[in-house]
Amino acid sequence: MTDTARRQIVAANWKMHGSLDMIQGYVGHLQPVEGVELVLFPPATHLAPLVSALDAVEARVAVGAQDVHDKEAGAYTGEVAATMVADLGGRWAIVGHSERRRYAAESDELVAAKVVAAFRAGLQPVLCVGETLEERQAGDAEAVVARQLSCVTNALSAEAIRRLVVAYEPVWAIGTGHSATLAQVETMHSAIRRVLNDAVDGEFAATVLYGGSVNEKNAIELFSSSLVDGALVGGAALAGERFMTIARAMHEAGRAAG
Ligand code: PGA
Repeated sequence: MTDTARRQIVAANWKMHGSLDMIQGYVGHLQPVEGVELVLFPPATHLAPLVSALDAVEARVAVGAQDVHDKEAGAYTGEVAATMVADLGGRWAIVGHSERRRYAAESDELVAAKVVAAFRAGLQPVLCVGETLEERQAGDAEAVVARQLSCVTNALSAEAIRRLVVAYEPVWAIGTGHSATLAQVETMHSAIRRVLNDAVDGEFAATVLYGGSVNEKNAIELFSSSLVDGALVGGAALAGERFMTIARAMHEAGRAAG
């Protein structure tokens, strides 16, 4: 497999947290990290003020939405279109986060349509996949993740599949303080790359992040693995200095050369 397509990314998913005050404090901590793309996912309401605050300090940090609707416009009260995110200066979108799959009952098919909508609007989607504890205990973890991925790859061109960024987020590791073990992460990241590679002609290695209780300590071990291209961080990324510590750990893992 070639490494040409792989990127290094550390991203913060603020979930339903944040305020204008928090933004002001947060951006003061941000600094570029060589070789590592930094992305912040605030609530949709705070996307525009965050973009302005980042511009004001000339931070080279990208911003994205935590979700997008699959339609471009229409009578969908309360929803946000991918084009609107792009309009505000957003460049990324999380799609298929397990909290959306669970609390908003998003199906694999809807997630696939949202990935298509994100690409159509020029956003970089981060597709979240991951099994529940019951699915892992039943020995179905890889099959569940393969199903989640295939539903999306079936809806995409080969070129789009190559541009996809995937975050493996086991549901049981999110917000629990119990990160997956490195062995579990490596096994699943390899499986994810196989599924994506099988969906296109030719060899390529997808960019695959890990998410689920990542913090300053476990990030060092996670990023030491050549199979881990970065992280999608929730709780530990709600403070700018903690986010930066994790981002620097990615750089310090010394993987810039691939
Ligand atoms: P966590 O969340 O880091 O708080 O576990 C990660 C995520 O849900 O993306």
